[in-house]
This record gives sequence, structure tokens and C-alpha cells, in this order.
Amino acid sequence: PRQYAVFGHPIAHSLSPQIHQAFAQQFGIALDYRTIDAAPAAFADAVKHFFEHEDGRGANVTLPHKAAAFALADERTKAATNAGSANVLTRLPDGRIAAHNTDGAGMVRDITERHSIDLRGHDALMLGAGGAARGVAWSLMDAGIASLTIVNRSPDAADALADAIGEPHRVHTRYWEDLDNIGSYDLIINATSAGTLGQSLTLPFSLAAPRALCYDLGYGKSAIGFLAWAHAAGVRYAHDGLGMLVEQAADAFELWHGKRPETEPVYRMLRATKA
Ligand code: ATR
Repeated sequence: PRQYAVFGHPIAHSLSPQIHQAFAQQFGIALDYRTIDAAPAAFADAVKHFFEHEDGRGANVTLPHKAAAFALADERTKAATNAGSANVLTRLPDGRIAAHNTDGAGMVRDITERHSIDLRGHDALMLGAGGAARGVAWSLMDAGIASLTIVNRSPDAADALADAIGEPHRVHTRYWEDLDNIGSYDLIINATSAGTLGQSLTLPFSLAAPRALCYDLGYGKSAIGFLAWAHAAGVRYAHDGLGMLVEQAADAFELWHGKRPETEPVYRMLRATKA
């Protein structure tokens, strides 16, 4: 069977093997899809070994390796270049490695198609300006939001992301300390790693417009705190990133196998068992 893998550290609890196997079953494709745990210092060699000596065709990449995956590639798509990170590596016919990023497209499709929310015209607030935020910011802009306000605990990273997007009329930054006074938003995205780190965010309810969508890029335990805040704030929609996980995987699957999998049954299976 064709060889695929997901690299991360830690990686044991990754849902990616299950997702890709479920997609493959839809088409009767046989594949090997395993988890490879690599510490940061060993990541580049592990990737090289997988592609050169284990007949690897494609790899997903998750924390903390997405920037390193981007850096080691020979070719990079625009989505990966914007984000400065890659969650998909593909071996090209000539043996070179191509980097792509499907996180942003996956998030937007989860919101607009699965949850049927039209993002056009939304005033969006992005909490965080690290790798996860960079991975989705351009896709949000492309989805037609009216404005993007980036707030990060360390303001330099927010400014750097706003500069990189380069649309000063649509993208603004504010200070974390000013969250109490910056008004309300239709879309609030939690792109911080606070939940993953077991830390809580203290956010004012005034951020949430009455019909707002609150979206956490994570799922499971890491999203619980932010979504609880969103429900307490009385927002209309509060969603975690489980659907985004399935959608970003579908884009990788299509890139590798040339076939578009159905994501809804896989999403429902994971929702029933995981979150
Ligand atoms: P990831 O790839 O998950 O985005 P990252 O690139 O390390 O990881 O970025 C983590 C983000 O979460 C950053 O925006 C970070 O803010 P700083 O740049 O100020 O460090 C943010 N973050 C992490 N813990 C946080 C907390 N307790 N409160 C607020 N922001 C937090």
C-alpha cells in the first residue's frame, strides 16, 4: 500500500490516521498511514528518511513542526508561503518535497459549509498571532470578511502578522490590555495556544456581538474554556475546530489521491466518539 504519515511531537493521540483511513475506504484505496513522533531536533532527518527510504508519498505535519516543514521543503504553495508553515508535505515525482497549508481553507469550509455561516461582511477578531493564527488569516481575508482585528498578548507578533497580510484598510491591531474597550465582533477566533497549555483566557463578554460566531481552532479539552466563555457571553454560534481538522485532511487527501472524500460521515463519527 501507499505510505503516508503524520509527524508531530507528541503525536500518539492524533486523529489523522483514522481520518485518512476513513477517507481511503470511501474509494477502496489501500494505504498505510502512521504516526511518527519526532523531537524538533530530529524532525528534518525523520522526514527525509520517510520520503527517501520508506517510499513515503505524503505527510501531514502538526505541532510543533509546521514551520520546520515549511523550511525544509523544495517547493511551496502560496498558502504555505503566506502562513510560513506547512501541514502537508508531498513527494513530487522527481523526489523533491512540496509544502502546502490546508488549515485556512479547512477552517473556512468548516464555517461556511458545515456550519452554514456566511463570513462575508463579518468584523473578525483574531486572538493570537502565532503559527495557528498565521495559518488561517489569509483564508479569512479571502472569505470576504469586512475587517480583521488582531490582538495578541505580545503586540509585536500582532503587528508583524498585520504587516504581512498588507491590507491596512481591512486589518488592524489592538492591545490585549484594551480588550475591554475595543467593541464587539461578529466572528471571534481563538488562535491562542492557551487552552492547549492548560491556561485560561480572561475575556470580556463585551467582545461578542449578539449574533456572533466564536470559533476555536482547537478541539477537545483545549477548546472547552473558550467555548464556555462564548456560551456564557450568549453568542449565537460556538464551534470548535474538529470540523476544520477533518476539512484540512480532506484537502490533503485530494492532493495526494486526486479524489474528493466526503467529510460529513467522518466528522460525525469523530464527534460521536471524541468530543
Ligand atoms: P501555535 O502554533 O499554536 O499558534 P505559537 O506559534 O507558539 O503556537 O503561538 C501561540 C499563540 O498563543 C501566541 O499568539 C501566544 O501569544 P504570545 O505571542 O504573546 O506568546 C498565544 N498565547 C499562548 N498562551 C496565551 C495566554 N495564556 N494568553 C494569551 N495568549 C496566549
